Amino acid sequence: MQPPEGIPETEAVDWAALALLAHEAMRKAYAPYSRFPVGAAALLDDGRTVSGCNVENASYGLTLCAECTLVGQIQLTGGGRIRAFACVDGEGTPLMPCGRCRQLLYEFRAPGMQLMTTRGVRSIDDVLPDAFGPESLEAPGEEGL
Ligand code: THU
Repeated sequence: MQPPEGIPETEAVDWAALALLAHEAMRKAYAPYSRFPVGAAALLDDGRTVSGCNVENASYGLTLCAECTLVGQIQLTGGGRIRAFACVDGEGTPLMPCGRCRQLLYEFRAPGMQLMTTRGVRSIDDVLPDAFGPESLEAPGEEGL
């Protein structure tokens, strides 16, 4: 597979391996209420991979999406930035991260971060345009006062 735009050929992403990692994580999901297991996996800028699965709760609204546990893993295993991300459902089919999770992923994005989506490989800026992010909290300059 050709590397997605923005990622040098020498650092091509192995999307099949990332999807497999997401699939393995999906098998560990705790989804007794929705019966909709989800797995997510990310390749970080230092070459590490992390994964996550959804963890539901009897108080339904407290459910943790797979992306929530994944970003926790990033931080717990040393931090870093996401170069490539994949998310799959119970059938192993690519799944679009929900809106809240796009925001969670945005926080940890590497420049040009790519996602495997239902419409092929796309960038985080494409799936979360005009995002609110860490830069938005920087102190305003003179002109902003
Ligand atoms: N889910 C995720 O884990 N990630 C998403 O981006 C979308 C939804 C989970 C939450 C819930 O456990 C199940 O899918 C059904 O909504």
